Amino acid sequence: MTDYVRIFDTTLRDGEQSPGATMTSAEKLEVARTLARLGVDVIEAGFPAASPDDLEAVRRIAQEVGNPTDGSKAPVICGLARTTRNDIDKAWEAVRGARFPRIHTFLATSEIHMKHKLKMDREQVVDRVIEMVSYARSFCDDVEFSPEDAGRSDPAFLYLVLGEAIKAGATTLNIPDTVGYTTPEEFGGLISGIIQHTPGIENCIVSVHCHNDLGLATANTLAGIQAGARQAEVTVNGIGERAGNTALEEVVMALQTRRPVFNLQTGIDTTQITRASKLVSNYTGITIQPNKAIVGANAFAHEAGIHQDGMLKNNQTYEIMRPESVGATQSKLVLGKHSGRHALKARLQSLGYALADQELDQVFERFKALADRKKMITDPDLEALISDELYQPREFFTLDGLQVTCGTMGMPTASVRLRDAEGVIHIQACVGTGPVDAAYKAIDAIVKAPNSLREFVVHAVTEGIDALGEVTVRIESKDGLHSLDAQSEVETPRTYGGYGADTDIVVASVKAYLSALNKMLVAMGVYTGIETPAIQGVAS
Ligand code: KIV
Ligand code: ZN
Repeated sequence: MTDYVRIFDTTLRDGEQSPGATMTSAEKLEVARTLARLGVDVIEAGFPAASPDDLEAVRRIAQEVGNPTDGSKAPVICGLARTTRNDIDKAWEAVRGARFPRIHTFLATSEIHMKHKLKMDREQVVDRVIEMVSYARSFCDDVEFSPEDAGRSDPAFLYLVLGEAIKAGATTLNIPDTVGYTTPEEFGGLISGIIQHTPGIENCIVSVHCHNDLGLATANTLAGIQAGARQAEVTVNGIGERAGNTALEEVVMALQTRRPVFNLQTGIDTTQITRASKLVSNYTGITIQPNKAIVGANAFAHEAGIHQDGMLKNNQTYEIMRPESVGATQSKLVLGKHSGRHALKARLQSLGYALADQELDQVFERFKALADRKKMITDPDLEALISDELYQPREFFTLDGLQVTCGTMGMPTASVRLRDAEGVIHIQACVGTGPVDAAYKAIDAIVKAPNSLREFVVHAVTEGIDALGEVTVRIESKDGLHSLDAQSEVETPRTYGGYGADTDIVVASVKAYLSALNKMLVAMGVYTGIETPAIQGVAS
């Protein structure tokens, strides 16, 4: 059996389906580029039948990311389809432009799903699988089939369904623990049983896809791999429905850090992990808990005195992997007020960012303004500036000026000046429960895009009173636009995430809100010329 584990990333499908993770097409394209740089083997780019926009986003990814012209490895580009002709047609239409296209189709096999959701019996399920896998195979040589809710399905029935799917032409058999129900021992046993008892499985790739409802997704995925699975389905930061999917960074770093235990390898450039994590968090508005393994703000922090003492003597006392191995930078002083453009460029290059001249100019201008207010500019500060300045959709409304009054003596008031895409200036002033509330009300009075604020998170990039503040918001639109979930077939109102960074926390809050609103306006079709600048990465 090969020692290579394929990494199948579903951030843009299972991840994006989770409430609040809606991304614009330009953002999806940038995430796909980042995943390709990370070295993932398969990018599940979306669920094309959900809407014409979803289909178009997958099509662009297939064409642009699925056909690299710089000699880099082309990832497989995959589209999800329910077992219907319409879904499979749409998936094929979306992925066919990729050098390596894949159609992924699924049907539930657990008693509870078959009885209550599908209202089909076992025989009907088997017939549908045979018919639709064959149909998908008539277009595409690479077809993946998933028996949804396999974790709660009768193993003997699974062997039968999977055997028929193989005969019908499936090349990858993906085993999902859809509701995150199994334990590692059970899930490993399920995979062993499938490998032992499914006719024809020796010529296919066995894949695992675990959800994290009991916090066992990574453990179950690793158990599945140890039992013989050679594809792991994951998302960046573990985003996904409910408690999420298996986190890419956890599986990859477990396989790498404990290589003597697993004896397996992946094609991931682990130094790109932190960047990918930040990008996905900024675009989705889903913040990362500080103690999250590998990518949390505290993942490499050592607070306790005894730990710090040990670290100073030998970092292996409390560190099982180096922060640099995942591209995480230390909060060190790198640049100051007198640093020039060349110094900034060199530092950004060493962090893995190769910016075009115009992008560098933009970031340099922000850097100078920040250096006037903050003496020490650290690597995390620079990364926040990049996110704020470059990883934003080209804005429809930009902040042109903000003035707030607040405190214990009066009514918090904000005056906001916005510039629209035509360059027209709009001014509004409002009172609120605090300066941020007042500023948001003033923006609402200008933009007139009804929404409700679902999440507002403030975070200091570094320590100290002059720290740069990062704000992440999520808003739910009242624009009538909905996202269709492939599995539950439920439509939920779309939510949009926004990100802003500034030493002034009210300014950061306003930027984050505008960034979310701009995305919403793009989705509503108010402004379609949006493009995210492509940032060329270099391995650090
Ligand atoms: O969790 C699940 O069952 C899925 C399938 C579509 C693979 O996401
Ligand atoms: Zn899933």
